[in-house]
Amino acid sequence: MTKLSAKTALVTGASRGMGRASALALARMGAHVLIHYGSGANEAEAVVAEIRNAGGRADAVGADLSAPDGAHKLAKHVRAVIGDRLDILVANAGTSKSATIEETKVEDFDRLFAVNVRAPFFLVQQLLPIMGKDCSIVLISSLAAHAAVGTLSAYAATKGAIDTLVKHFAAALGERGIRVNAVAPGVVETDMSSFTKTDAGRDFTLGIQALKRLAQPDDVGGVIAFLASDDARWISGETSESTAAPSSDAPGRYGAESTVSIGIRHRPMPYDPWKNSTSQVLKVQVRSDADAKRLAFPGATVAACRGKRPGLNSS
Ligand SMILES: NC(=O)c1ccc[n+]([C@@H]2O[C@H](COP(=O)([O-])OP(=O)(O)OC[C@H]3O[C@@H](n4cnc5c(N)ncnc54)[C@H](OP(=O)(O)O)[C@@H]3O)[C@@H](O)[C@H]2O)c1
Repeated sequence: MTKLSAKTALVTGASRGMGRASALALARMGAHVLIHYGSGANEAEAVVAEIRNAGGRADAVGADLSAPDGAHKLAKHVRAVIGDRLDILVANAGTSKSATIEETKVEDFDRLFAVNVRAPFFLVQQLLPIMGKDCSIVLISSLAAHAAVGTLSAYAATKGAIDTLVKHFAAALGERGIRVNAVAPGVVETDMSSFTKTDAGRDFTLGIQALKRLAQPDDVGGVIAFLASDDARWISGETSESTAAPSSDAPGRYGAESTVSIGIRHRPMPYDPWKNSTSQVLKVQVRSDADAKRLAFPGATVAACRGKRPGLNSS
């Protein structure tokens, strides 16, 4: 498949995990891919070699995206390699930290927001001069932004920020012909989700999925490449969940004792962003996951749960 021949792409955090898988998928579709890395120069060179050996085009570019000027340096580097046209930006590099609210340190919080939010924001800003009509940006959100899983509140907040940026970037850049979307994976077996190596983590992950296997980086890499390609030319401003449909029969997540809080936001109709919306919280007793799932109708957020619910350590 060579749908992207003559196109250039930058994938951040492509030295391993989902970034690597996305870069390989884009290269298979014919794009010239820049493989960005932070500390994994050797891993990035291995990805470049794999693409070149298969007849594709790739180069490695390094930059520490936790530094305030990391995105600016990376953009300069990118322009030096590919010149004045970048067709696809996949801002995938990310870091996670599992900690309770009490355990979360200011420096961890700042680092999460630096790598996961500040870097994609300024990378988009710095690369805009070489992006235009028919270009596409894909950011990476997470299931953690949409459901309270694990002790991940600070990490999840960075992904909530990504969902917000997608809407604003898509609205601001649409008239230039640039599409902006995000992919929000569930748990994917990478270095980041090391808890899947334990029996409890693996069982929990399988329990919340309809497809009963652990997601691999390739499973999501193809979704990212699709959104970046012209086949998705009428999709912009969307966060696409790539979670293999959370299962309605997840064992033990919501049992007979569970109480679920549902937040419902009432928006003024017709919708006017300058008018305040009102919200309401309902406490509802549920007996099973199927009950809880039925409550997650559009406009409602299932915000909290008391009762039987195993925790996660990281994602
Ligand atoms: N795994 C999951 O279950 C999951 C679920 C939902 C969303 N996500 C999101 O998906 C994206 C990819 O995650 P993954 O699981 O593939 O992660 P991963 O295997 O841990 O890889 C992370 C990548 O980000 C790069 N990176 C991290 N910190 C960096 C920094 N300071 N400067 C430059 N590069 C940096 C790493 O580069 P080096 O190794 O070269 O430093 C690496 O290539 C992230 O945004 C993550 O939040 C993951």
